[in-house]
Amino acid sequence: NGELRHWQGAVQDVFSPVCVRTPGGPERVRIGSFPLMGEADAHAALDAATAAYDCGRGRWPTMGVADRIRHVQHFASLMKEQREAVVRLIMWEIGKTRSDAEKEFDRTVVYITDTIDALKELDRVSSRFVIEQGIIGQIRRGPLGVALCMGPYNYPLNETFTTLIPALIMGNTVVMKPPRHGVLLFAPLLAALREAFPPGVVNVLLGAGRALTPTLMRSGRIDVLAFIGTSKAANTLLKDHPRPNRLRLVLGLEAKNPAIVLPDADLNLAVEECLAGSLAFNGQRCTALKLLFVHESVAQQFIALFSRALSAIGTGMPWQAGVMITPLPEEGKTAYLEELLADASARGAAVVNEGGGTVTGTYFHPALVYPVAPGMRLYTEEQFGPVVPIVPFTDIEEPIRAIRESDYGQQVSIFGRNSALLAPLIDHLVNQVSRVNINSQCQRGPDVFPFTGRKDSAVGTLSVSDALRAFSLRTLVAARNH
Ligand code: G3H
Repeated sequence: NGELRHWQGAVQDVFSPVCVRTPGGPERVRIGSFPLMGEADAHAALDAATAAYDCGRGRWPTMGVADRIRHVQHFASLMKEQREAVVRLIMWEIGKTRSDAEKEFDRTVVYITDTIDALKELDRVSSRFVIEQGIIGQIRRGPLGVALCMGPYNYPLNETFTTLIPALIMGNTVVMKPPRHGVLLFAPLLAALREAFPPGVVNVLLGAGRALTPTLMRSGRIDVLAFIGTSKAANTLLKDHPRPNRLRLVLGLEAKNPAIVLPDADLNLAVEECLAGSLAFNGQRCTALKLLFVHESVAQQFIALFSRALSAIGTGMPWQAGVMITPLPEEGKTAYLEELLADASARGAAVVNEGGGTVTGTYFHPALVYPVAPGMRLYTEEQFGPVVPIVPFTDIEEPIRAIRESDYGQQVSIFGRNSALLAPLIDHLVNQVSRVNINSQCQRGPDVFPFTGRKDSAVGTLSVSDALRAFSLRTLVAARNH
């Protein structure tokens, strides 16, 4: 509610995935702490957001678009001053490399300016009058109410802001809860939020999700749930809402994006794209390639090239230049990945690159696993880590069937040169996923492209202009034309 509160209650320590050596083995470094807010704070945030949504003249939801844009621009200029502080916290909290942390910050700033441009265009189109059958109509695009915005740990800043900014700029008020890993990095931005927005428009809750989100959802006062994370967590949130039919959903969930490497593919290009696509930020991206279908005729060559490329990638601290593999933030993650490898090996697959799958502290050395087949956990589970499963195929129907039967439907990458073969495959797959990439890895950006998914992968569409639509409703003002 526009106050920066000094916390006197219980706090939660934050430990970095970066470890120090101790006699007992590697230990995570403590890098700070955050307040463990509870039920009363959740109610206070809801009260503030609800009061700020009061649609009186000149208030946030009824304010002119140009005025709201000015507030957001003011915030963006204050935010830019905090770049280095936020980038350093992204590196320390989630182990993202400096260059990726910088990209995350800069991309977020560009997203804000692109959103402003898109809103100006949307507003120009929306505010026209139309006359139909004696009725003069004006369609106004307006806010939905109070939005709960929750981003994931792998893009704690960017993917929180890809919902927070469109929600705000469309006139909604917001309660925001940062992810468990990636909470400290919001500290340098709190003063900017407070300065740039009227009281109650943005309310930040810090604490354990299980202590806060049931209160928020059970209150029935959340009108839009914008959540990016696992389906399990999304379902828990949904179950708590007393009237889910009143809730607008914007959900970015899990994916198991496959690549299909056809016999005539440029293998050097395919390996380069598949390696980056599988292992950027240690594979902790919903868009990461998580299952590589490689035609049997080129599988050995693909594996040899991939293994060679893997032996050249750097492992190290997030701030070291040239590294790709960095420590993993989630507790229990390395053990989970080891379980997946044990399951694959019990069913006839093996780690085929030297040193792959070994663990050092919170590092997991990337594993290339071959031949992966249906029935193995790696075939269906979203590993969200540096494990690259390769599935050999002889008939194109095999990867097609896998995509059709998957619980997920986000993206696919196809590598091949023959457009006569590619065209029917593309035609088929566009109805199974929400983006087909040709000779390139899967990815969300550029952010003006629609970003969504089918089945359990998403609800609603994010992108600059789609997000504006997602956080608003078109209302018709209709007058009889006398
Ligand atoms: O984790 C999911 C993100 O939406 C991935 O975004 O493809 O830009 O890395 P990205």
